[in-house]
Amino acid sequence: MIDFQHVTKKYTTNDKTITAVNDVNLVVQRGEIFGVIGFSGAGKSTLIRCVNLLERPTEGKILVNQKDLLTLSQKELRDVRRKIGMIFQHFNLLESKTVFHNVGFPLSLAGVPKQEIKRKVESLLEFVGLADKANHYPEQLSGGQKQRVGIARALATDPEILLCDEATSALDPQTTSSILDLLRKVREEYHITILMITHEMQVIKEICDKVAVMENGKVIEEGTIFDVFSNPKQQTTRNFVKTVMNDELPASVLEKIYHPKDNSKVYRLIFVEDSTEIPLISEVAKKFDVHTNILFGQIIELQHQPFGNLIVELQGATVEIEAAYEYMKQRVSIEEVKENGY
Ligand SMILES: Nc1ncnc2c1ncn2[C@@H]1O[C@H](COP(=O)(O)OP(=O)(O)OP(=O)(O)O)[C@@H](O)[C@H]1O
Ligand SMILES: [Mg+2]
Repeated sequence: MIDFQHVTKKYTTNDKTITAVNDVNLVVQRGEIFGVIGFSGAGKSTLIRCVNLLERPTEGKILVNQKDLLTLSQKELRDVRRKIGMIFQHFNLLESKTVFHNVGFPLSLAGVPKQEIKRKVESLLEFVGLADKANHYPEQLSGGQKQRVGIARALATDPEILLCDEATSALDPQTTSSILDLLRKVREEYHITILMITHEMQVIKEICDKVAVMENGKVIEEGTIFDVFSNPKQQTTRNFVKTVMNDELPASVLEKIYHPKDNSKVYRLIFVEDSTEIPLISEVAKKFDVHTNILFGQIIELQHQPFGNLIVELQGATVEIEAAYEYMKQRVSIEEVKENGY
């Protein structure tokens, strides 16, 4: 759906060159909610603005629906852009227009007949839960309501792609959740592909299928939410994961890992949904000649599913520990915990 191929964007100001986006390769599949996370200045906004050519890449290609955007004529580009909606951190509403006219604005621009606009806007306001606010002005709305208007406006032209640039960053956690629920509903009912950028891992955790982590213009890590949360490879990613899932091991536990006894090994078990880890531990203790010692355990919700993390020490003869490990490996994701706690 969206294919970034070696995308680089450089800015030159006062003979200094900044590489805002540096050789990014990413593929966003149709129907996905794809998140890009990074600290301020990482290049997220620049990257997302390349998707509708608000920024032209200095090098590389962007394919949208297999079309190479950089080779399109003005007219073709306009057609592609019409299929791409965008919502913003600060909503970007027209203060002098009512909610109704804000949502209908892209349609009036496109010369859609008044009756058709009315029908469309009313159904969109219904969809975002603002049917009773049609004649209000933006200043009469809360932040969450303004973003609902922003979403309705973005949907007016029946986009196939929705770009969200920090769409919830100006909202409190509860309002953020309600906007994320709405975005999920947008994907389900309109089958729209959503590319969202954020600096909040909570947002990624709640709504995205996949995530890419950006740092200094580069994508340093990407994968499914499950893979990235269960096995973050880069320090920056770990720091982001930690903000929603603090699985830093207590010092006393780390001490055990730093100084393992000869007859013991420490494992991290990752379990999802209904893979029941506690019976597994007691099973292992029964089936094998090992002692099991639970050092740390945590469970969070990832995309509305339980996701757990358990650190277990197995004590016993090496051959027994290895057999127990093989047994558990058939049932859950398991790895030995290294000295750094990962
Ligand atoms: N128009 C521009 N001219 C010059 N430099 C720019 C321009 N736009 C962005 N940059 C620079 O490019 C880098 C990436 O900026 P960008 O806005 O993409 O980051 P971001 O990840 O979206 O950050 P934030 O989380 O603060 O929004 C920054 O160093 C920024 O200063
Ligand atoms: Mg930005």
